[in-house]
Amino acid sequence: MTEKALKHIAIIMDGNGRWAKSKHLSRNAGHKKGAQVLLEIAKAAQQIGIEYLTVYAFSTENWKRSDEEVSGLMDLLREYLSKNFDELKENDAKILFIGERYMLDSDIVAKMEELEQQTRNNQGMTLQIALSYGSRQEIVAAAKKIAVLASKKDITADDINEKMFSKLLYTANIPDPDLVIRTSGELRISNYLLWQIAYSELFFTKTLWPDFTKEELINIVENFTKRERRYGKA
Ligand code: IPE
Ligand code: IPE
Ligand code: MG
Repeated sequence: MTEKALKHIAIIMDGNGRWAKSKHLSRNAGHKKGAQVLLEIAKAAQQIGIEYLTVYAFSTENWKRSDEEVSGLMDLLREYLSKNFDELKENDAKILFIGERYMLDSDIVAKMEELEQQTRNNQGMTLQIALSYGSRQEIVAAAKKIAVLASKKDITADDINEKMFSKLLYTANIPDPDLVIRTSGELRISNYLLWQIAYSELFFTKTLWPDFTKEELINIVENFTKRERRYGKA
């Protein structure tokens, strides 16, 4: 049902806090529900033939939230990474993480690396999880790598181009997103994949992430297939 042109969907999973508030629950209860919905949506994306799904789970700026919320999120992550990926793995999904790993606790990083290792040869959908991710930080890190290569005389200024720059980002080897979906009604990008979404189609929905469904995903995909992507051409 999906057109070939839709290989990669990126999602900003926003609205867990407001969902929890509307139900008189804690913000972390909202994150827990949001994490469950991610598994359902990843499964749905596999079923409709999406090759790459990249989800924004925690931004570099989210470290500024209260200690209570951050430590609740990290505990949720520990539990989540330990036991939730069996079905995706059975369906041959490849799991990757992008972001500033050094800011995460080492036991969490160990679990992330284990999942990446276990799924590295899988041939199904690639699920990229952006954790402690910030796009400006990613771009600055790439610029630093270039500076090091140049100072060692491994490259000259003429070797720097868009293709080589892309390969130095966390998303090296992953095609750019065709479609970005943000839930919860906020109309902004919040430091997500700034380089990679230069020509992505954007879709904003008011649905809060914990209420997002496979049916809505399919509706958005249908909307996408009706759009004309021009890439600057007349
Ligand atoms: C998204 O939901 C999850 C994270 C950013 C970790 P929020 O926690 O931002 O939910 P709102 O925006 O406060 O409703
Ligand atoms: C973006 O949501 C990050 C994630 C969904 C993980 P935020 O809720 O952090 O974004 P802002 O602060 O509203 O821009
Ligand atoms: Mg938010």
